[in-house]
Amino acid sequence: MSGMMKRWLLNGRPIGRPIQDDDFKLDEAPIPSPGPGQVLLKTLWLGFDPAQKGWMENVADYVAPMEIGEVMRGSGIGQVVESNHPKYKVGDLLCGLTGWQEYLVTDGVGYERPVADLKPTAMLSVVGTTGITAYGGLFKLGEPVAGDVVVVSGAAGATGSVAGQLAKIAGCTVIGIAGGKDKCDWLTQELGFDHAIDYKSEPVRPRLKELAPRGVNVFFDNVGGSILNDTLAQIATGARIVICGGISRYQVGRMPAGPENYFNLVFRRATMRGFIVLDWMSEFPDIRRRLAGFVNAGKLQFREDEQHGFENAPRTLLRLFDGSNKGKQILKVADPA
Ligand SMILES: NC(=O)c1ccc[n+]([C@@H]2O[C@H](COP(=O)([O-])OP(=O)(O)OC[C@H]3O[C@@H](n4cnc5c(N)ncnc54)[C@H](OP(=O)(O)O)[C@@H]3O)[C@@H](O)[C@H]2O)c1
Repeated sequence: MSGMMKRWLLNGRPIGRPIQDDDFKLDEAPIPSPGPGQVLLKTLWLGFDPAQKGWMENVADYVAPMEIGEVMRGSGIGQVVESNHPKYKVGDLLCGLTGWQEYLVTDGVGYERPVADLKPTAMLSVVGTTGITAYGGLFKLGEPVAGDVVVVSGAAGATGSVAGQLAKIAGCTVIGIAGGKDKCDWLTQELGFDHAIDYKSEPVRPRLKELAPRGVNVFFDNVGGSILNDTLAQIATGARIVICGGISRYQVGRMPAGPENYFNLVFRRATMRGFIVLDWMSEFPDIRRRLAGFVNAGKLQFREDEQHGFENAPRTLLRLFDGSNKGKQILKVADPA
């Protein structure tokens, strides 16, 4: 296929500040040609993760550094439009790190096909690394036991909403912390959370004391900052604090100060552990099957927030940081053939 394609390049490092428009540069390049054993993928959807800001800042050492001028890294789903690969034919969908570009060439390593009985974009959300993060963080680190009180922050987000529902499946009492009435109502009225705290209009610490008088057994934290500190004040003996993410730090950029209430880990003999989902790569197929099973059994709901237009990629990423996204943030770039 000949012609030109668009791509978004990294143009700045948002360290110590929010992401700005000129941190990205829209560029044109020739559509690449697949060599032997390769396919040409046309990007159909992009998936967005708060971690992308960390990649732009180059603060994380669990992924290769991102250089200025590089195509912005990100996950996506592409459709094969030319194939020189024996395993893939024209029309096949593949999910992986497509980056923010309209076309790309790959040998398929690191790419996976969508789950057959779910919509393709579920690979970016509930059965993708998002859902696997929720599953692994909750069950491997949180180790919930039926009857436990589980608190989830960022609870109406892509990861938090799955973590909270999985805790309900495990027989726990689940309290979600999210921003705004709509999100809180969605948690309690549609997802089956027992309680929701709107951190934008209610103080978290006294509400947790009221809702979990005997303490919090598992805290699945996506947010960090004052929400982590407030929850640490209310943990039960033997609590497991799972540090999934700390999105509250991203607006300021610098690494947060340690939580004042951390000494409660000593008084309550509690643990606080972080993780990177990629460490469980070998278990992805198995966890994905379990998540798909819960979805198909009607026990696990997921919501995707689909924006449109390749030009809107930077704007779509920003939605994660002001809480505009309702569920997994994705961007539709092109229609499947
Ligand atoms: N450890 C891992 O391997 C791993 C893997 C994937 C994701 N994660 C982490 O999981 C977390 C959730 O990611 P996601 O992709 O599912 O995103 P998401 O939760 O769908 O979207 C981000 C949400 O964060 C909330 N938020 C933004 N700024 C905030 C602030 N200053 N204080 C409190 N809440 C804020 C917003 O919800 P409200 O409207 O409720 O404020 C927003 O909707 C992130 O921290 C991410 O880095 C970790």
